[in-house]
Amino acid sequence: MAKSLKSPPADLTRISTRNGGTFPLARISKVISGEAQLPGGHGNREMPVWGPFFSRVDADQDLGRMRVDSLARYLRKIQQP
Ligand code: HEM
Repeated sequence: MAKSLKSPPADLTRISTRNGGTFPLARISKVISGEAQLPGGHGNREMPVWGPFFSRVDADQDLGRMRVDSLARYLRKIQQP
């Protein structure tokens, strides 16, 4: 899968390292939901926009937001030094 992408998927355990040691929680939530551009993003992003998927699981839109937030917090937890 990774090989068929034009830009390689980011190593999600090194987001903090790439960001000077702090995890940009708000930005990462927006990258996942699709509200923010991916870094270096020009043209179409290759990563699917998850916000609408997660909100479509059921009628409650807040639950979609919660899923994005949980995922972003999980990524913060798996950061490597
Ligand atoms: C729910 C599953 C996924 C999550 C939580 C996720 C999360 C992320 C995050 C947070 C970034 C930005 C990293 C940074 O700012 O340093 C990123 C980048 C990226 N992701 Fe995903 N991702 C997921 C699934 C996918 C899938 C399925 C694909 C491919 C079809 C993909 C392709 C990419 C690519 C290519 C980038 C590099 C940035 C760019 O496109 O320019 N991701 N991902």
